[in-house]
Amino acid sequence: MTRVAVAGLGHWGPNLARNFDDLAELAWICDGSAEQLAPFRRRFPQAKATERFEEMLADETLEAVVIATPVPTHYELAKEALEAGKHVLVEKPPAMRGAEMDELVALAADRDLVLMPGHLLLYHPGVQKLKELIDGGELGEVLCVYGNRQNLGIVRANENALWSLGVHDLSVILYLLDEEPEVATAQGRDFLQDGVEDVVFCYLRFPSGKIAHMHLSWLDPHKMRRLTVVGRDKMAVFDDMELERKVTIYDKAPWKRAETYGEWQTRSGDIFIPKIATSEPLRLECEHFLRLVGGDGDRHKVARDGAMVVSALERLTDSLRAG
Ligand SMILES: NC(=O)c1ccc[n+]([C@@H]2O[C@H](COP(=O)([O-])OP(=O)(O)OC[C@H]3O[C@@H](n4cnc5c(N)ncnc54)[C@H](O)[C@@H]3O)[C@@H](O)[C@H]2O)c1
Repeated sequence: MTRVAVAGLGHWGPNLARNFDDLAELAWICDGSAEQLAPFRRRFPQAKATERFEEMLADETLEAVVIATPVPTHYELAKEALEAGKHVLVEKPPAMRGAEMDELVALAADRDLVLMPGHLLLYHPGVQKLKELIDGGELGEVLCVYGNRQNLGIVRANENALWSLGVHDLSVILYLLDEEPEVATAQGRDFLQDGVEDVVFCYLRFPSGKIAHMHLSWLDPHKMRRLTVVGRDKMAVFDDMELERKVTIYDKAPWKRAETYGEWQTRSGDIFIPKIATSEPLRLECEHFLRLVGGDGDRHKVARDGAMVVSALERLTDSLRAG
């Protein structure tokens, strides 16, 4: 069984620790705060506990490190772990600069280690369904994708809506379209706190001509977690706020009738709601990481895909700041 350590036991880390305790050998738990660590010493008595990240890295039998600490610490901790020869699963985003992410990707490639960003939404069975519909040609040629991630709150002080919310949709849009955007622009405003944009609109254009849009906001009357894919033949919506209709496929499209003079009309057919599995996306993410560590699958692709997300985030941030 793979020996795994989890660092950062705040809000999110315990979910990772629970899953790795089930799926692998949770060998170490680590948190910089003794108070934060205390309840987990009792919950995972078989795991060694430490407040010092370096202490667990010194354990030569430890194979993989999972990092769920605050975003600004990700790059340094991931770098240390890779340098110590450990496979790394690091919460999103693994770095705040494209150059830092490229350095991590190169380090992992040099040592043939896994560097996997925790892009949870990619493991959502609803997103997997969208991918299947797109790759299987069910929607026809994809023209555009747009994401809505809005709510009233949680107002964050140190991450803007682009980094806090946009990282999810961006990872999914790039995964679905499997292309790097050639244009990435953003507009937004910091209404509540100087320099922390709470409303952001992003535009992406891809070499194939596809376009994408993201509306990210914590100043909104609607709670929306929705992604819409418009194809030439059909359209599909993934709505994570829905309990039973996570994915809806609309047999709707523009249409030219053969017997007329070629003017565009529209066609509205059936609306189909496929059954979507209720598997826990985090468990699927952890299983994928363990498979990559075990040598199953392309371990360098997840790192390169993660680098594409960080690079796009950086370009969107530059555009946002340029106004
Ligand atoms: N994938 C998701 O859906 C999802 C959801 C929530 C959070 N996250 C991510 O998880 C990460 C953590 O978020 P959170 O909300 O749990 O944060 P948090 O602030 O609640 O917890 C972070 C913990 O890390 C500890 N820590 C800080 N520096 C450390 C270090 N150098 N070594 C060891 N421990 C250290 C802190 O003491 C704290 O207990 C963030 O990157 C966040 O983006 C992901």
